[in-house]
Amino acid sequence: YDDVKDSISQVLISHEELDSKLDELAAQISQDYADVDNLLCIGVLKGAAYTLVSVTRRMSISTPVDFMSLSSYGSGMESSHTITVRSDLTTDVAGKNVLILEDIVDSGYTLNWLIAELKRRGAASVKVMALLSKPERREYEVPIDYLGFTIPNEFVVGFGMDYNDHYRNLDFIGVLDPKVYAN
Ligand code: PRP
Ligand code: MN
Ligand code: MG
Repeated sequence: YDDVKDSISQVLISHEELDSKLDELAAQISQDYADVDNLLCIGVLKGAAYTLVSVTRRMSISTPVDFMSLSSYGSGMESSHTITVRSDLTTDVAGKNVLILEDIVDSGYTLNWLIAELKRRGAASVKVMALLSKPERREYEVPIDYLGFTIPNEFVVGFGMDYNDHYRNLDFIGVLDPKVYAN
């Protein structure tokens, strides 16, 4: 894992492109929620940690934040289609206008599950911001209210996205060289 230059075959989205998209998304969200009470921003750990911090720090309105740690992938390449709640929110979402921040929507399973769960807990509204979407992989319909980038069906890492928990800390989105996960 150590040699990043050797593990990443292509830079898909540069640090600069991420910065300007994050500015845009935060401005739009700030405008849309300016007159909305009880906003709560939720980041889906671990992947969305970078996105949640990057977007909320750019917002011009105040918002509480909370985290829920969910896993649908385990450590492998393919979604297992069972959600493991690794740790739950500390906030009661009843009556809250929830904005979920995610790094990527792939099959849609994670968000499909989470949206239903938040509504079951009594959220007043649930909207979604996703930095990336891979529509070719979609199996569950998920409404994405704020989207950063649509990407092709490549295994991407960086800015929160991992392979075996590595590469999340990269400050750009890159395509993982298949030799890293071969054999
Ligand atoms: C990844 C990613 C999304 C989810 C998207 O999380 O961060 O949360 O998968 O895939 P889906 O649309 O097919 O559900 P992962 O389960 O790998 O956990 P992590 O965020 O801790 O890496
Ligand atoms: Mn995730
Ligand atoms: Mg992962």
